[in-house]
Amino acid sequence: MRYVTLTDVFVHPIAQKYLKRSGVAHAIATAYHAYRLALKHGVNVDLATKAALLHDIGHYEWYSNGKWDYEQYKQNDIHAIKGAERAHKLLIRLGEHPQNAKEIALAILLHTDSYLPECELKRKPLQAIIKLADEADEEPGGRHHYRKIDDALALKKVKQLDELVGKQLEQERLDEII
Ligand SMILES: [Fe+2]
Repeated sequence: MRYVTLTDVFVHPIAQKYLKRSGVAHAIATAYHAYRLALKHGVNVDLATKAALLHDIGHYEWYSNGKWDYEQYKQNDIHAIKGAERAHKLLIRLGEHPQNAKEIALAILLHTDSYLPECELKRKPLQAIIKLADEADEEPGGRHHYRKIDDALALKKVKQLDELVGKQLEQERLDEII
């Protein structure tokens, strides 16, 4: 059962504000990668695509003197923590099941370890998929954050992914019955 669709999430003003900051094209591409990887690894496509779409909504703008300050970003960034919290709040507000909201928030929290002290993370499959999906769309120099996409095309792609997710969940439901 699906409580919240990708489209519900995508059109919300909070998602729009923060997705535009870190790159709508990157968020959507990551969600498509997550769909493909979730199918391959038998992970829930609903959770994977929503976590991927929202994985970077915690970014802060590190500017000094009107220019992006990469050093400041590297030293102070906690976008995974902030994103996990933001995504959780948004999903709960939209009516997501609390268990799903927690799984998605955790996958966002662990999609990178750049802010953590050195440690060996053992990610669960959903968490591992979000990291892989993000990396699959990465471009040198962080250029994936600046790729542009037309608003109408972005919404169309999100709706198409919603259809794919809906069909997959329906298929899984039928497989269980038969
Ligand atoms: Fe990312």
